[in-house]
Amino acid sequence: MSGTRIAVVAGDGIGLEVLPAGIRAVDAVAEVHGLRLDWHHLDWGSEFYRRHGRMLPVDGLEVLAQHDAIFLGAVGVPDIPDVETLWGLLIPIRRAFEQYINLRPVKTLPGVTNRVRTDEVIDLMIVRENNEGEYSEIGGRAYRGLPEEAAFQENVFTRKGVARAARFAAELAVSRGGRLTSATKSNGIVHTMPFWDEVVRDTLTDYPSVELRSELIDALAASLVLHPERYDVIVASNLFGDILSDLAGAVTGSIGSAPSANLNPERRHPSMFEPVHGSAPDIAGQGIANPIGQIWSGAMMLDALGHRPAAAHLTAAFEHVLAEGVRTRDLGGTASTEQFTSAVVAAVGGLA
Ligand code: NAI
Ligand code: MG
Repeated sequence: MSGTRIAVVAGDGIGLEVLPAGIRAVDAVAEVHGLRLDWHHLDWGSEFYRRHGRMLPVDGLEVLAQHDAIFLGAVGVPDIPDVETLWGLLIPIRRAFEQYINLRPVKTLPGVTNRVRTDEVIDLMIVRENNEGEYSEIGGRAYRGLPEEAAFQENVFTRKGVARAARFAAELAVSRGGRLTSATKSNGIVHTMPFWDEVVRDTLTDYPSVELRSELIDALAASLVLHPERYDVIVASNLFGDILSDLAGAVTGSIGSAPSANLNPERRHPSMFEPVHGSAPDIAGQGIANPIGQIWSGAMMLDALGHRPAAAHLTAAFEHVLAEGVRTRDLGGTASTEQFTSAVVAAVGGLA
């Protein structure tokens, strides 16, 4: 019997360091739970771009489609425009495989001090719409180089797109106690945001037990810093969700710990699991990157593949290591990527 097929794209910078750490940790837990995982390494990213002029091969998406999941590190290097790396790799994968949910848990971790308030436990989920919204290709530049030069970009919000994000968030809210916050800006953005509000409200009529609040994104951002413990599930458009999740991740400690899942909830296509952070060129190559974002993304992958006990085992293992005081530098500790990862592997065995 063949195992679960996982496509691996380490990418660039610290992606090349945290991704092997993530695989070691996932493999350790997979062994305990008797799961067979077949990792299929793909050397796509900026080096591939330098050789071939593209981020992934012409048939790259077809190759990925033959896998059960995609495990990604980070892409981006200082001397290639980010628009190439993002639109050449990440966004095509998210859209081709209808990964319309970007799920980003934000949690207080043991031994890690919240940056803003230390006394409250933060435990929330950000559900970011991942296929449309503000990140659109529709628009253009006019009068290049002239004083009249102008740029235009159209937002794209569809009833189907907003409703499926709202539905996913509502289901999650039901499973977590029933509070849902929708990020909006209907006072300033007068076409798409009132439409967002309307479709979210319509969708939520199917979930009478969920308490829905709409909050303006500017006030919501401030409130997430001041009172993060008040939030449970937040549903947001592509741009708002992107910003809120970096913000919330920073509030709980370090962006290096934040995981994410790009989900095709119907499982018609592979989903993709990656840390929230980027390739961190400022610390790449030093062996000091925090691997938690990658390891936790691996736990989310196990969960999405239906291996819930293994996923819970893995998160318990890195939380145990943190509680013992082992931390990387971004969290105020001295452990290297390798030392932290070895401690997680040992904890997986210890907690078995
Ligand atoms: P970044 O997330 O790479 O780094 C921001 C700051 O956080 C840096 O000071 C970095 O050292 C620190 N940091 C990030 N991850 C860390 C970790 N695991 N452990 C310890 N410290 C960590 O964001 P930045 O600098 O804006 O972008 C760098 C490159 O990454 C750019 O090319 C950008 O486009 C790309 N990027 C890629 C993403 C992806 O692959 N999904 C997401 C975000 C950025
Ligand atoms: Mg981001």
